[in-house]
Amino acid sequence: MTGTASMPPANTGSETAPLPPAPRPDDAPLLEVNNLVTHFPIRSGFFKRTTGWVKAVDGVSLSVKPNETVGIVGESGCGKTTLGRTILRLIEPTSGSIKVRGEDVVAASAGRMRDLRKEMQMVFQDPYASLNPRMPVHDIVSEPLRIHGTPKNEARDRAGEYLDAVGLLPEHGNRYPHEFSGGQRQRVGIARALTLEPDLIILDEPVSALDVSIQAQVINLLEDLQDRYDLSYLFIAHDLSVVRHISDRVVVMYLGKVAEVADRDELYASPGHPYTQALLSAVPVPDPDVELTRERVVLTGDLPSPANPPSGCRFRTRCPIAVAKCADEDPPLAEIAPDHWVSCHFPSV
Ligand SMILES: Nc1ncnc2c1ncn2[C@@H]1O[C@H](COP(=O)(O)OP(=O)(O)O)[C@@H](O)[C@H]1O
Ligand SMILES: [Mg+2]
Repeated sequence: MTGTASMPPANTGSETAPLPPAPRPDDAPLLEVNNLVTHFPIRSGFFKRTTGWVKAVDGVSLSVKPNETVGIVGESGCGKTTLGRTILRLIEPTSGSIKVRGEDVVAASAGRMRDLRKEMQMVFQDPYASLNPRMPVHDIVSEPLRIHGTPKNEARDRAGEYLDAVGLLPEHGNRYPHEFSGGQRQRVGIARALTLEPDLIILDEPVSALDVSIQAQVINLLEDLQDRYDLSYLFIAHDLSVVRHISDRVVVMYLGKVAEVADRDELYASPGHPYTQALLSAVPVPDPDVELTRERVVLTGDLPSPANPPSGCRFRTRCPIAVAKCADEDPPLAEIAPDHWVSCHFPSV
């Protein structure tokens, strides 16, 4: 909880003009991504000439408001990790804009980027690969602080606080990553991401590598931490069931583009894009009567290669309702209901 008691302004004794209305932070996005493109060169031959491009992220726009959780969902290979890493400029974008509280991240100098990275952290999919196996957990968690100049003892104390916040014990700090279970390792990764007091955490499939029984615990922890530290999340997942509980809004990606964006309840109740419908029909329904009778849209075929996407609508090669127009014209993302955007020539409404 963030109980900020509203104090009356101090009486300065002078009759000045009234203060302008306080800014309403909820209106201003914390993160704004516009038409972001990240292409990777394909090099071949002896001279390693560029012979084509992998269009991993191909014109993505999205925003995240303070304290909001935006889920990003799409099959493996659709560009989710590249999107997350590009937002942090761990990968340079090919074009497009990224803004944090209105500040241009793409144009930021190396020095400024160092500061901006404190505000945006990432938690990785595989907590084992992302944690240094030769470092005790205390050092793993305090490393970002030490890199940013915090004295060693203070960094260690702060690391202890964050280990506690993620539900680990003080003695866990002296152990090494291999001594932990998958869920505990991911808690270590989360503690490390918290130490620089970020505003936004990009969670790249943070529970995909964990047992289903552990997934809910980690998601509940993330929700508690969000309230406690006023965090915004960009929560990446490959299926819609994982992000349902935690997301305020959901972005569905297909082959480097946004297929659909809507508030969580709207998206699950009335998906507009045939791809979202197909993803949803793969999610089991708890009610057995509904489960037996509900209609399923089965996705056939694999994700086409992002180096050579289909013409027109990228989903058309797997779409149950595609017609000739879909091969010719790429459907724009259009608002089919308030705040509900779909990129399809024939959205369900
Ligand atoms: N560094 C890279 N160089 C070339 N291609 C890459 C690189 N990183 C990712 N890709 C390709 O970009 C596409 C999107 O990958 P990725 O962002 O990892 O998707 P996701 O996280 O949704 O599984 C894939 O085809 C992948 O092979
Ligand atoms: Mg990924």
